[in-house]
Amino acid sequence: MAKQFDVVVIGAGPGGYVAAIRAAQLGFSVACVDEWTNDKGKPAPGGTCTNIGCIPSKALLQSSEHYEQAKDQFSEHGIEVKGLKLDIDTFLGRKDTVVDQNNQGILYLFRKNKVNYFNGKAAFKSKVDNGWAVTVSGNDSAELIAKHVIIATGSNPRALPGVEFDEETILSNDGALSLPKVPKKLGVVGAGVIGLELGSVWRRLGAEVSILEGMPDFLAAVDRDAAKEAYKLLTKQGLDITMGAKVESVEKTKSGVTVKYTDADDKEQTLEVDKLIVAIGRVPNTEGLGADTVGLKLDERGFIAVDDDCKTNLPNVWAVGDVVRGPMLAHKAEDEGIAVAERIAGQQPHINFNTIPWVIYTNPEIAWVGQTEDELKKSGREYRSGTFPFMANGRARSLGQLDGFIKVLADAKTDEVLGVHMVGPQVSELIAEAVAIMEFKGAAEDIARICHAHPTLSESLREAALAVDKRTLNF
Ligand code: NAI
Repeated sequence: MAKQFDVVVIGAGPGGYVAAIRAAQLGFSVACVDEWTNDKGKPAPGGTCTNIGCIPSKALLQSSEHYEQAKDQFSEHGIEVKGLKLDIDTFLGRKDTVVDQNNQGILYLFRKNKVNYFNGKAAFKSKVDNGWAVTVSGNDSAELIAKHVIIATGSNPRALPGVEFDEETILSNDGALSLPKVPKKLGVVGAGVIGLELGSVWRRLGAEVSILEGMPDFLAAVDRDAAKEAYKLLTKQGLDITMGAKVESVEKTKSGVTVKYTDADDKEQTLEVDKLIVAIGRVPNTEGLGADTVGLKLDERGFIAVDDDCKTNLPNVWAVGDVVRGPMLAHKAEDEGIAVAERIAGQQPHINFNTIPWVIYTNPEIAWVGQTEDELKKSGREYRSGTFPFMANGRARSLGQLDGFIKVLADAKTDEVLGVHMVGPQVSELIAEAVAIMEFKGAAEDIARICHAHPTLSESLREAALAVDKRTLNF
């Protein structure tokens, strides 16, 4: 007999599992279906973010940073390390433990909130009188009837045409998180978020990393000053980044991979590497969902078509996260998931796309929110800009992390903060203050008047806000 629920959520990534919890909090009977299992065959909710994305990459970034610090930076502090070596099994094992703890955490949250979790693949079967029939096949095969369905099926890595991921030599983010030994030469196609983060991990452990980027401008979506600073610092660390590279062919050889490409001057070049990461974006995942069976509309790029409220063309069917338009970010998916659950409950939540923060977890980190200087120029809005370098911040000096800066862009007349751009230590955390200020439509003067603890990195945001009015105190 089919089991009935008010809400069935398909997918337990950040969009789906949070939507399920919020719907349960609001008093609905909820099921969340997710097919992911780990290499031991155990259910592994959390999606790409938890299993092969945000969480494991941050674990490896942390471990590789410790290694590099012990190798190159501890001596500055008078700490001598002899016989430093990397135990790759422990390095990867710790990451797997972190992932497993997160999987278990989500299962615990489901139990706590009385969300019924089904481990299996969900597909639409038909429209029924009281909602939608959804079939689950896998460990927890079942027939479900849902009044509302929230689709949160995420995305998959985009492959280069005709070049399949084998996850041994040609790697997506998945295989790149589990290399059994440090490659001597590592190639990366795409100098985006994944390319820079995972390129950094393996470079710190000793790989020679060459990144081929198709676009002429480095991090084209990022404010030009921030992108320029990041490029300078990352290439100085040893990432070899070629801009304007057009990949012509990728061929597996006995020992690795040969990539043929034309460079920005239209010259043919060859790159020989042991392993190749392809990180050129992601595509929405609607495979096997039964979209055709029930007439669920996709847009021309394969995303599920939704309106501003995440409503699809089908009654009481919603979609959130990577599978719909907008940035492919875990926190954007979460916010959409929460908002949909609240809309089902008759509330009127709102998501401000202009205050969604972005973070790239390189060292130094890159973070931003709101508009870039180029965007403001293009829109004709008059603005003032203030910048403060971490080199003039006492805490950054104590940390020995002096690279980078914070830039605040504010409306020339009203002083409203329009964009904040950061390159530097722990800016993934500092950006939250800028988001809060922008969410409250605050001014640069507001940041300048807020007391910031001393000595902290956060004082740099205050100083950058003061710089908007040309009155920095420490620079
Ligand atoms: P991305 O969109 O960040 O970067 C892809 C890069 O590949 C771009 O610079 C693009 O110009 C380049 N590219 C595209 N086709 C190419 C080609 N044929 N040859 C050479 N270069 C090419 O995508 P990425 O890094 O794959 O990440 C996928 C998604 O995952 C992104 O939307 C990202 O936001 C998300 N993500 C977010 C993270 C974070 O928030 N820290 C971490 C990792 C991923």
